[in-house]
Amino acid sequence: MPRSQQQFDLVIAANRLPVDRVVGDDGEVSWRTSPGGLVTAMESVMRGREGAWVGWAGEAGDAPEPFVENDMYLRPVPLSEDEVAHYYEGFSNDTLWPIYHDVIVPATFHRYWFTAYEKVNRRFAEAVCQVAAPGATVWVHDYQLQLVPAMVRELRPDVRIGWFDHIPFPPVELFAQLPWRRAVLEGLLGADYLGFQRVADAQNFVRACRQLLGLPTKGDTVSVSRAADSRRVRASAVPISIDYTGLEAVAKLPETQQRAKEIRESLGNPRTLLLGVDRLDYTKGIGHRIKAYGELLEEGQVCPPEEVFVQVATPSRERVAAYRELRHEIEGEVGRLNGEHSRIGAPAVHYLHHSYPRQEMAALYLAADVVLVTPLRDGMNLVAKEYVTCRPDEGGALVLSEFTGAFHELHQAFVCNPHDIEGLKQTIMRAIETPEKEKRRLMRAMRRRVADHDVQRWASRFLEALAVAPDRPQRTTKE
Ligand code: ADP
Ligand code: F6P
Repeated sequence: MPRSQQQFDLVIAANRLPVDRVVGDDGEVSWRTSPGGLVTAMESVMRGREGAWVGWAGEAGDAPEPFVENDMYLRPVPLSEDEVAHYYEGFSNDTLWPIYHDVIVPATFHRYWFTAYEKVNRRFAEAVCQVAAPGATVWVHDYQLQLVPAMVRELRPDVRIGWFDHIPFPPVELFAQLPWRRAVLEGLLGADYLGFQRVADAQNFVRACRQLLGLPTKGDTVSVSRAADSRRVRASAVPISIDYTGLEAVAKLPETQQRAKEIRESLGNPRTLLLGVDRLDYTKGIGHRIKAYGELLEEGQVCPPEEVFVQVATPSRERVAAYRELRHEIEGEVGRLNGEHSRIGAPAVHYLHHSYPRQEMAALYLAADVVLVTPLRDGMNLVAKEYVTCRPDEGGALVLSEFTGAFHELHQAFVCNPHDIEGLKQTIMRAIETPEKEKRRLMRAMRRRVADHDVQRWASRFLEALAVAPDRPQRTTKE
């Protein structure tokens, strides 16, 4: 396999590059920030570190040539139309995604999807090996690339390999449904160190290795022994975070503060502005949130224009049937609520199906009195951390589902179980009605947590754990 002229000591592999290639109607090519929490986090980690990022540029067909953006060397990996359908939309997002998120929708199994997954994972592994310098650190990301660790190890035994799981790792009872469970576990066990969002995710992985592969495990370590390969692999929790300093600075800009005022004014200066920000994904509990809000409207507990609800729903995976159905359902519900409860100039729900620049997101957070984060299952949920970061004024209140990774860190949130609609309604009302002074105290504590555990600390913890594993395994510590 030919090695690239340019080689790096740190190589990141993620399904997406930090930017997507977009070709306009006039044929002009532009690059747009890719969606999702992984890119938000890793973009700030890679700023200031010399390294390469191997990933897909977001469109089917030939890959663009490698290029440098924000001091990062980006190495695009091509995906054909069929591979987008089978590896990305199929196996990654219609087989693994539902299984790893509590089977909120049923998972679909197709053998040819897994064949494409294997083929694309191999292509990623080869691209990684081309740009990795001797003895490099290779950091593989997320569920789309679970076979890459073993494939890289096979090609390049000299490099150190870590993998981080941005989403939950399911309990063995759910994971066991996967016909390719063995291949996935063996793929991951090619790494030296595996990082997860929660202690429970790491434990689920270790248990799956014990029960499904019959491997010996001790604490957070799995022992792998095959002919020439006898190693220990460590799996522990390192919860991801955000660029606290950078985002807080954006929120403090006079232009952002001004924009937040304008947003409130254009909504009629409501007494309470409630906000939801999510990729349009069935894991995010958007329907549960809208149902609860609808009942509060019907009961007269909230009344537009005094209370206004803005839902930002970023377009996501629009060719996957479950996502198309979700969009249809949510937009139907929003239409119904607006039909029944809006007045001219005072809609009950403002629904925005767009992506926004970072500064506009910060202004929205700054404008919001209550942010509703109600996933049915979410690895972390960076929106929750972004919201508290954007509140240097210590204003606002966070409603947070107990099924997010963020729940394990942001203890001062207004906690909800989104399945319990009555409970969710009461929690929303508590978040609205709790006295400002108390809300400030809660916000202050959550801000301190995110400030102390920002994305750079997360990256350092991951890379340190990778550097010492497996020779000096550390115990998983709960922070
Ligand atoms: P996920 O990774 O599942 O999408 P997260 O909450 O962890 O969920 O991360 C979502 C990221 O996407 C956050 O950084 C958030 O600010 C960003 N985001 C969400 N919606 C939008 C939008 N409409 N425009 C721009 N960025 C968005
Ligand atoms: O964090 C979960 C995640 O699936 C990332 O892997 C991904 O970058 C993001 O959400 C957005 O999803 P997609 O890349 O499928 O648009």
